[in-house]
Amino acid sequence: MSVKKVPDAEGCTLTLLEVDGLMFPTFPADVIRGVPDLELRDDDILISGYPKAGTHWLFEVLRVLLRGSCDGGGMEKDDFMIEMVPQDQLAKKPSPRILNTHVQFTSLPKEIHKRKTKIIYLLRNPKDSAVSFYNHHRKLVEYYDYHGKLKDYLRLWVGGKVDYGSWFNYVRSWHEGLRSHPDIPSLSVVYEDMKEDALSQIRRISHFLGLSHDDAFLRKVDDWCSFKRMRERKGKYDLTPEGQPIMYRKGEVGDWKNWFTIADNEWFDQVYKDRMTGIDLSFRYTI
Ligand code: A3P
Repeated sequence: MSVKKVPDAEGCTLTLLEVDGLMFPTFPADVIRGVPDLELRDDDILISGYPKAGTHWLFEVLRVLLRGSCDGGGMEKDDFMIEMVPQDQLAKKPSPRILNTHVQFTSLPKEIHKRKTKIIYLLRNPKDSAVSFYNHHRKLVEYYDYHGKLKDYLRLWVGGKVDYGSWFNYVRSWHEGLRSHPDIPSLSVVYEDMKEDALSQIRRISHFLGLSHDDAFLRKVDDWCSFKRMRERKGKYDLTPEGQPIMYRKGEVGDWKNWFTIADNEWFDQVYKDRMTGIDLSFRYTI
């Protein structure tokens, strides 16, 4: 276990924690190492997605669906992040817990197999994921201390020299993991589908959780969890020095177009083609 300053091509560094050969944010190493042995409960639900897939949004949707009412409730996604929050604290949380993680399928708590934990797997197109993670790394200065340019950052991101490693390895791990474990109940949710028609996706999620909410309530959930409303309620908790919310930045599909040059885009498309061979997935980059 050691803290690493990972350099990009221009020498700007990203501060990360290496634990047993894998890269993480600078969370407690013992908590990271403890993830495979985390004790689960039968009614736990697990959200997983590569960083910046929209986990805070999905957590809030699940929270209000399970609670059956749209109100503050005081539960935050980060309080249930299994590679960050010590196990004794997770053990004190009331059921049902909405656990969440960015680890690969093979690194999940072993008990998911015994408990048949319900998993909601969140996907987002890689171009917007990379841009969102770039902004995250640039803005969380006290964690990452990264000041590089997008062009150089994209090389780090593609090469997996970021926390949780490469998006490509992550998506492959989950694709193959879920496919080879059909006994684990899972639902895949795509960020772009949520943006296009959140109500339909919230309805799917509600059914998957075995809840029977009427459409009037589902519409309320949709509104309560809209980007604008979540940003107003929660954006104030983590701000850049200029006063901009860090976790609720733009919330759009296609922002990558404001960041990628034509050359970045052509290069990225080729990398995607090379790295995703044999994976029958396609993403929407605009809606
Ligand atoms: P952007 O940086 O593109 O704006 P995560 O929660 O996994 O860290 O993902 C963060 C991304 O989800 C950010 O993307 C954030 O703005 C977006 N997001 C958060 N809440 C959202 C919401 N209610 N609707 C749409 N996008 C949301």
